[in-house]
Amino acid sequence: MNPYFQKDRFTLYHGNSLEILPQLPADSFDMIYADPPYRLSNGGFTSESGRLVSVNKGGWDKSEGVEEDFKFHKKWISECRRLFCRAATEGGVESLRY
Ligand SMILES: C[S@@+](CC[C@H](N)C(=O)[O-])C[C@H]1O[C@@H](n2cnc3c(N)ncnc32)[C@H](O)[C@@H]1O
Repeated sequence: MNPYFQKDRFTLYHGNSLEILPQLPADSFDMIYADPPYRLSNGGFTSESGRLVSVNKGGWDKSEGVEEDFKFHKKWISECRRLFCRAATEGGVESLRY
């Protein structure tokens, strides 16, 4: 697995997180920040600054149905749990238990 960018102790990977995360060593992350696809682009509308706007962000945000969406989220969240350092804050680990 080749990093997209690397300098000092910083490494950036670019790709499918479901393929990249399993290749990283367990107990090696102090903090994980994620902004995953919420799969809310279902042809609906939302209110943004008082205007009605489409929530269709792209194919990557389309729902594949509750079961598949749940499987997707469970997969990357399980990987995050594996990657978390045992010494990471209990709050961080706790939030991934549910
Ligand atoms: C909610 S957006 C995050 C936007 C980003 N935080 C920003 O401000 O530009 C989710 C992003 O995850 C990407 N994505 C979808 N599935 C992915 C996957 N399996 N692995 C990595 N990225 C994925 C999408 O292409 C999209 O850019």
